[in-house]
Amino acid sequence: MDRNWEKFYNKTAIQRDMSKKFGPVKIIGKNGFKQLIRGVQKNLKNGMKIIDIGCGTGHILMNIYRTTKKKVKMVGIDNSSGMIKVAKQKSKGIKDISFLLMDAFKIKFKNNTFDIVINRLGAPPKSYKETYRILKKNGLFFLFITDKEDWKEVRNLFGFKDYFGLKEQLKMLKDVGFTIKKIHRFSSTEYYRNIESLAKVLEIIPFKPLFNRKKHAKKLKEYKRKYKTYWGIKSSQKRLLIVSKK
Ligand SMILES: C[S@@+](CC[C@H](N)C(=O)[O-])C[C@H]1O[C@@H](n2cnc3c(N)ncnc32)[C@H](O)[C@@H]1O
Repeated sequence: MDRNWEKFYNKTAIQRDMSKKFGPVKIIGKNGFKQLIRGVQKNLKNGMKIIDIGCGTGHILMNIYRTTKKKVKMVGIDNSSGMIKVAKQKSKGIKDISFLLMDAFKIKFKNNTFDIVINRLGAPPKSYKETYRILKKNGLFFLFITDKEDWKEVRNLFGFKDYFGLKEQLKMLKDVGFTIKKIHRFSSTEYYRNIESLAKVLEIIPFKPLFNRKKHAKKLKEYKRKYKTYWGIKSSQKRLLIVSKK
C-alpha cells in the first residue's frame, strides 16, 4: 500500500467506526456481513487459529468473538497504524485476540499457520499468494469483496473505474492453488438521509482519492436529482463472498 493509502486509512479509522451515525438510514437486501460472520462461525472448532487480513478497526473478529462459544485464537493485521490503534482499544483485555501492524503482502507468520483466513482488503488479489502460504492444508479462505456492480450509480456518474467481477476473482484464486467451495452474491440498496451523508461515506471508502467534494459538487447535485427516493438517496451495493479451500 503506498503512502497515500496509508494516510487515507489512518485518517479515516475513527470515522469508519462512526459510520453508523452518518451511514445509510435504511438497507434493503443483504450486504453480506452477517453471512460472512455466520459462515466463519459454522466452521470454528476449539483450538483453531484465525486471521483477518486488512482487519481495519477489528469489527469482524470482535463480532465473531462475541458470538461464539468456541475457544479460538484470533489475529487481525492491518498496515494502517490508525486502524490498529482503534482495534486494540476495542479488544483491550481480551487475551485471545491480537491486532498487529503488518503488511498483507509480507505476512510475518510461518507457512501453514491458520485454519481460517478472512480477507476484506481494498485491493486483495496481490495478497492471495500470502493467504495461501499461511493457511493450513484444508484450511478455509473467506474472501469478502466488492462485485463488479458495487456502487454502480456512484461509479457511473463520477466516472470511477469498474471493480473485478466474479470470473476474474475465481481465476486469480485458482491460479494461486485454491479450490472454490462456495460463492455467494449479495445485493442490497442503501438509502442515505441526504446527499451530505452519502458524501461523508464516499470520503471514508477507497473512492476518496478520486472523490473531491469541491470538484464533484455539481455531480453530487445531479446524483441527488437522479436518485432521490421516498426512503432517501439511493445507492446499490453488490458484494461477493467466495469461500475456498487450500
Ligand atoms: C476496505 S477496508 C476493510 C476494513 C475492515 N476489514 C472492514 O471490513 O471494515 C481495507 C483495509 O485494508 C487495509 N489495508 C490495505 N492495504 C493493506 C496492506 N497492504 N496490508 C495490510 N492492510 C492493508 C486498510 O488499512 C483497511 O483497513
